[in-house]
Amino acid sequence: MEVKTIMVIGAGQMGNGIAQVAAQAGYTTFMNDISEDLVDRGMTAIAGSLDRMVKKEKITADDKTAILGRITPAVTLDPASECDLVIEAVVEKMSIKADIFSALDRLAPGHAILASNTSSLPITGIAAHTGRPEKVIGMHFMNPVPVMKLVEVINGLATTPEVTATVRAVAEAMGKIPVECRDVPGFVSNRVLMVMINEALWELYEGVATAEGIDQIMKLGMNHPMGPLALADLIGLDTVLAILGVLQDGYGDPKYRPSPLLKSYVAAGWLGRKTGRGIYEYK
Ligand code: CAA
Repeated sequence: MEVKTIMVIGAGQMGNGIAQVAAQAGYTTFMNDISEDLVDRGMTAIAGSLDRMVKKEKITADDKTAILGRITPAVTLDPASECDLVIEAVVEKMSIKADIFSALDRLAPGHAILASNTSSLPITGIAAHTGRPEKVIGMHFMNPVPVMKLVEVINGLATTPEVTATVRAVAEAMGKIPVECRDVPGFVSNRVLMVMINEALWELYEGVATAEGIDQIMKLGMNHPMGPLALADLIGLDTVLAILGVLQDGYGDPKYRPSPLLKSYVAAGWLGRKTGRGIYEYK
């Protein structure tokens, strides 16, 4: 199936990154959020990211104008009626995703694929809120979206091979490398990553080393581009806690229990880079 028009639901750090790479790939793109302010902030973030690329001479100033021109902001879901593919990237709450997918199912044309960028919620469970479970799939982008090469493609129980092939082709057109996996809690990426991040948070809680020390050890010793605590701040501590909850519920294994430190940081609203304070402070 040919995809020409894409709608991204959610203009936050993942949503605006996905809208950016969609527009860079030449797709007609809608970017939706619930208020003008949120959509404006998403557009500003995209402009900033494109400015970086202009400065590095990866694109020209004219390319930037053309890419921005392909993105139409939207505060309702109505443009879904014109789309071949919708990619949802809202908060990791099943009740909110359920409402969005049932609305999208009503609005989007029959051929349209409904994808979720969820980092761990079950694709099959999301699909159950639509009348087209065979056209529902996970398209899990990594943060920062314009830079990271992977799209983890998660096949729900009912997802058809044609839908998977279409989504793989779109990811490739966006300059990404799609890799498939089954619909299990945390998929492949976060089942591994969250255990590492949580273990680092337990070490910090126990005073095994400073935050800087833990991150340095993992950067220098394992050649990771950033330490697990800095990465947790990039992902968002609330998201890390939510994913650990999905892993704990999904597998019933205490190895996924979150560090108490993580819970108190989230309760304090210290969510990482996006709030200016997480494990580290950001000015
Ligand atoms: N838009 C455009 N370009 C960007 C960018 C953005 N938002 N952010 C960074 N870049 C570019 C920079 O311009 C730079 O380009 P050049 O290589 O041409 O110089 C390049 O990316 C590297 O950036 P920096 O030099 O600023 O910084 P860095 O070298 O420290 O890299 C990083 C930053 C790419 C974030 C790197 O630290 C990294 O790869 N970190 C790990 C990220 C990671 O693991 N992400 C996955 C998180 S898990 C997830 O997202 C899924 C989930 O479900 C939780």
